[in-house]
Amino acid sequence: MNTTWGKLYGIGVGPGDPRLLTLLAVEVLQTVDIVAIPKSKMERESVAWDIAKVHCPSNVRLIELEMPMTSDQQVLAKAWQDGAQTLLGQLKQGKSVAFITLGDPSLYSTYSYLLNILQEELPQECIATIPGITAMAAAAARINLPLATGDEPLLILPSTEDVAEYLDFPNLVLMKVSRRLPEMLTLLEEREKKAVLLTRLGQSGEKIRWEPKPLEFTSDKVDYLSLLLVKKDLLGRKNDESESNN
Ligand SMILES: C[S@@+](CC[C@H](N)C(=O)[O-])C[C@H]1O[C@@H](n2cnc3c(N)ncnc32)[C@H](O)[C@@H]1O
Repeated sequence: MNTTWGKLYGIGVGPGDPRLLTLLAVEVLQTVDIVAIPKSKMERESVAWDIAKVHCPSNVRLIELEMPMTSDQQVLAKAWQDGAQTLLGQLKQGKSVAFITLGDPSLYSTYSYLLNILQEELPQECIATIPGITAMAAAAARINLPLATGDEPLLILPSTEDVAEYLDFPNLVLMKVSRRLPEMLTLLEEREKKAVLLTRLGQSGEKIRWEPKPLEFTSDKVDYLSLLLVKKDLLGRKNDESESNN
């Protein structure tokens, strides 16, 4: 018997402010049968849901998928496989499912791994990925600076030891900085680079730390939702730190 598949939507909900979802994302959230929510631990709140929920009908069906934050590839592969099978079960019954994800679905998102598995069975026309505003775009906008201009390159990197090789790029975005903040700041200090650390953009507890302050941070780690913008032209900018509570 032929399956009448439901449609899968991968929806980028942006970095925090619920007004930063696209009109298309909102339209889909208002009409899908199921919203699928990735959670690092079942008992934790989901930031993506916290952003998206104002746009969803109050009685929308939710499916929570546990996607642990670990580097253990076996644990991750099992979580992706289990999550994909849960979604396939619903899609096979003709249900439409919106998998929500922070920022944009194509940038460091669990959605990519699930999609990989789902694409083995789900026809291409039953998949729609809806872009979202990335955290780095929101970061640049928040401090009224461009990410890059003219012929300049822009490099986006997770915060690993490899960063040292790339510090001479004029525009760098260092993602997933939290546990490696001291290491990153030491590197920046050694190479006399200036940076802005942006945490929880558009969410409660938002913080912005301008140069030269980031180099004086003493905390071992910052919130997971933090990134560093490293730019050659930060020198001479006025320090403009802020903390806000949205
Ligand atoms: C798994 S990646 C997700 C990136 C996301 N898909 C995007 O398009 O921005 C998580 C990293 O994104 C950055 N990030 C996401 N949301 C953020 C926010 N509201 N404020 C600051 N950084 C954020 C942080 O570097 C965090 O470690």
